[in-house]
Amino acid sequence: MRIIITKDYDELSKKAAEIIIGIVKNKPTAVLGLATGTTPLGLYGELKADRDKNGTDYSKVRAVNLDEYAGLGADNKNSYAHFMRENLFNGLNIDLKNTYIENGAAADGAAECKRYDALLESLPRDIQLLGIGSNGHIAFNEPGTPFGATTHTVELAASTVKDNSRLFDSIDDVPRKAYTMGLKSIMQSRSILVLATGANKAEAVKNLVNGKITEDVPASVLQLHPDCTLICDSAAAALL
Ligand code: GLP
Repeated sequence: MRIIITKDYDELSKKAAEIIIGIVKNKPTAVLGLATGTTPLGLYGELKADRDKNGTDYSKVRAVNLDEYAGLGADNKNSYAHFMRENLFNGLNIDLKNTYIENGAAADGAAECKRYDALLESLPRDIQLLGIGSNGHIAFNEPGTPFGATTHTVELAASTVKDNSRLFDSIDDVPRKAYTMGLKSIMQSRSILVLATGANKAEAVKNLVNGKITEDVPASVLQLHPDCTLICDSAAAALL
């Protein structure tokens, strides 16, 4: 694993943006695996600023997202579909038809997971961006998820509901279930870029880099990926 430690969040976001912009410039038809959460917001800001300033072209780029809350349709303001449009897609010249995410409003969850797996098979990713949960989850693969998992429905861990409640009006509004890309599908991306910021991620980062490879820490599977880069700020790297 390649590890880049930055002095702060701003530098982390800039370094991550350099990597993504490099891929898009090199391959205008790139497939980007994207993530939600607060961690990539700085990166997304950098990508939009670069688009405005330098005109980097996303017209042929396809974007595939990791996960979505079950029960929230794409127009719900707390859905990840909405998050992606608001925080990234609306600021790029990407065609929304080329952006993919699980349908949180699907009536049949199992069928939705199958549909998403077929889609992932047809869209091999050039890079998969990841944040990390304080309990070591990636996407919504909570501790205990088999490394062989494909897209599936998850029951969110209590700590995840609590962590993510800051983006909702109240903790009672946080859905208890979600659809997530599985660890197997994440590992199939050609390259992986993990971002971590802040002291509350230090333990998870330590386990990701130096911990035992175990399903109790889903992120530890990334130690097995041949092309994985971790960018973290000094607070998140404190226990390395
Ligand atoms: C959610 C998302 C993850 C994300 C994690 C960390 O649970 N499903 O993909 O990595 O939150 O979020 P944040 O970046 O806000 O700390």
